[in-house]
Amino acid sequence: MIGPRSVRLTGWGMYAPERVLSNADLEKLVDTSDEWIRSRTGIRERRMAAPHETTATMAAVAGKRAVAVAGLQPDDIDLILVATLTPDYWMPATAALVKEAIGNSRAAAFDVMAACSGFVYAYATADAYVRSGMYRHVLVAGSELLTRFLDFSDRNTCILFGDGAGAVVVSASDQEGGGAAGFELTTDPDGAYMVWLPSGGSRSPPSAETISRGEHYVRMEGKETYRYATKTLATSALTAIKRAGWDPDEVDLYIPHQANMRIIEAVAKGLNLPMDKMFVNLDRYGNTSAASVGIALAEAVDGGRVQVGDKVVLVAFGAGFTSGAVAIEWTADPILGRRADSVEPVASVRAPVNWDSVDPIPPRLRELLEADAGPHVPLEDVVPGEPPQGDGHRADAKREVPA
Ligand code: ACO
Repeated sequence: MIGPRSVRLTGWGMYAPERVLSNADLEKLVDTSDEWIRSRTGIRERRMAAPHETTATMAAVAGKRAVAVAGLQPDDIDLILVATLTPDYWMPATAALVKEAIGNSRAAAFDVMAACSGFVYAYATADAYVRSGMYRHVLVAGSELLTRFLDFSDRNTCILFGDGAGAVVVSASDQEGGGAAGFELTTDPDGAYMVWLPSGGSRSPPSAETISRGEHYVRMEGKETYRYATKTLATSALTAIKRAGWDPDEVDLYIPHQANMRIIEAVAKGLNLPMDKMFVNLDRYGNTSAASVGIALAEAVDGGRVQVGDKVVLVAFGAGFTSGAVAIEWTADPILGRRADSVEPVASVRAPVNWDSVDPIPPRLRELLEADAGPHVPLEDVVPGEPPQGDGHRADAKREVPA
């Protein structure tokens, strides 16, 4: 099998549910305050999926957008990878549901589980498949529906996470150069129980007892995770940059996992970089785990922060502990992001026959929703390709979009 001349990122897209869950909403559920959450994490609000939405529906919308931006038809995709720690079901793979939802009839499809590093791990997997010559176009989606796995009486965790999806297409190219120039992936099992979800797997199958103990919710040792994150984000990024043959200050934009503003600031300080080299959108989405880097990348490109020829580093850490980075030389014209405008924010995922799931919304969130419809942000605000919001900076919004 002969590999391509280069492997390039050709499409990108994102999806965020409409419903905003603000810090003020969380003040009604746990003993916390907007001030505490903002000052300790930088998060102002996060998104919460509607009852009819799932990890697969969100991945499908982001995925359809990425395929459109790449100028491809769904059936051009040879492999679909979904990075998630919140799959629709234990089986089948969420990627199988996404395949049908995006209208693809021929791709292989499987999930990648590396927690918040999942998007970078899946990107590396996609690159390897394309580089080997086995596939030409791989869709990588990171999608998470974390609000259904949080204990909304635990202030240590429930304030941090949100829902959403980001996607890219990784393609074979007949042109030389560009694309991923260096990777680093690590796993440190010393951190295996620092961020974890105890029950539901073979070690502790779900039962009335595991549920009464609240073992179906995310648990976290915040301080240990914080310490690991600051160290590993810096070392993973540096290793990927070194493998690319670059220096850290040559990189135009770092797109780190959006977990905590203080973590991102510490990484910038550690690498001796100004904060304007760090892309940040966690104030609006919180930590969306495997979706976070994909959402941030789509917003960075559509917001005019990435240009052809730029050096971009995606870097993430997560439960496991896992960590990963990819150093990318950007080749796609950012204006192509406008092609995503034609993709409606809806996806239809095959429903099971003769089975009705129970209400998927956790009871405390259900009470909140019923008591207060909450602030409503129109979907247009988060769809790539829309006119700039507030101080948005899509410099090239009026350029013509190639079909
Ligand atoms: N509101 C108000 N007070 C709070 C809250 C809250 N939401 N949460 C904790 N506190 C209290 C604590 O009880 C503690 O009180 P005490 O001093 O009386 O004991 C005090 O605030 C300080 O708590 P710390 O845990 O020391 O706060 P810290 O500054 O470490 O911030 C945080 C906590 C935000 C969780 C931080 O440690 C962090 O971001 N860690 C990394 C988490 C992370 O990135 N997780 C992602 C994992 S990746 C994945 O794969 C899922």
